[in-house]
Amino acid sequence: MLFDSFNRRIKDLRVSVTDRCNFRCFYCDPDPAPCGSIDPKLLTFEEIHSLCEVFVSLGIEKIRLTGGEPMVRKDLDLLVGQLAGLKRLGLQELAMITNGSNFANKAAQFRSCGLDRVTFSLDSLKPDIFRSITGSDKLSHVLESIEAARSAGYPNIRVNAVIVRGRNDDEIVDLAQFARRNNLAVRFIEFMPLDSRRTWDRKNMVTATEIRETINSAFPIILKNASRRGETAWTYRFADGSGGEIGLIAPVTNAFCGECSRIRLTADGQIKTCLFSTKEYDLRSLLRKGGSRTEVANLIRFAVARKIAGHTIGSPTFEYSSRSMSSIGG
Ligand code: 5AD
Ligand code: SF4
Repeated sequence: MLFDSFNRRIKDLRVSVTDRCNFRCFYCDPDPAPCGSIDPKLLTFEEIHSLCEVFVSLGIEKIRLTGGEPMVRKDLDLLVGQLAGLKRLGLQELAMITNGSNFANKAAQFRSCGLDRVTFSLDSLKPDIFRSITGSDKLSHVLESIEAARSAGYPNIRVNAVIVRGRNDDEIVDLAQFARRNNLAVRFIEFMPLDSRRTWDRKNMVTATEIRETINSAFPIILKNASRRGETAWTYRFADGSGGEIGLIAPVTNAFCGECSRIRLTADGQIKTCLFSTKEYDLRSLLRKGGSRTEVANLIRFAVARKIAGHTIGSPTFEYSSRSMSSIGG
């Protein structure tokens, strides 16, 4: 098993399969989606699979595919099928996070390939605001994808909404209502300084406390989990017994670093042990020069042992990560 120097057990792996995206969310701002040839820096599916096999042998229980936008990667269902095979070796959950613009007609296929869970990013229910946040007019596609995921039988569907003052803070109650109507979990996330344009400012961040109070005054909510226990979110149910769930994720005002169980593999094969770490460990080079499974496992252990205690957002010494969210993988 993987333990870091703070005795945190590492059991969740985020795998970014591409740093490209067909959206341009201003708080992330990735490179445009590719057309044509595949970037040689990207890990191949075979490479991702063999690295994930080692990760699972070291005790990783959950793998989440991220991007950029994972669906931008061609034939992603093949990778899902290969990774689902790792459940024989101890993997418990294979999940994906997507912007939902191209998921509707793939939902059932991915489910049958072994995808267990899906999370959608959706920050606005108003087409014009959605466009101003994401640079895309595909809101209706995202809504169809969420519906398709439900029809395909995915359990515990989640929607992530990053709340930014002056952009979508007036939609907090509408998004809570969306959770109620559709009987799903909407998780509100504090805006983090991970945007490549560096627009983050404490002033445009809406705190989880403020979000909770806004929701609570429209629809009273009751805390479900007294401790986050390795989860990133506090979860709430509606006091009136309505379906749906609210999640609050407060990476800035109430960091969960102390309970972090995560590690990340970037699309170009680097281990990142924290969203905000500036250090990376090069698994791709090791693999491409013929490194053995043992050598790969050793590099993973080496990286985990050096995982930083946590981020320092807000402190004068805070440094922007060398990469934006799109290339690290949320
Ligand atoms: N702050 C907070 N959340 C972010 N995400 C992307 N960039 C940021 C940011 N700067 C979220 C996306 C997605 C998840 C992977 O990370 O909305 O749901
Ligand atoms: Fe694309 Fe997700 Fe970044 Fe938006 S947050 S630009 S959907 S990768």
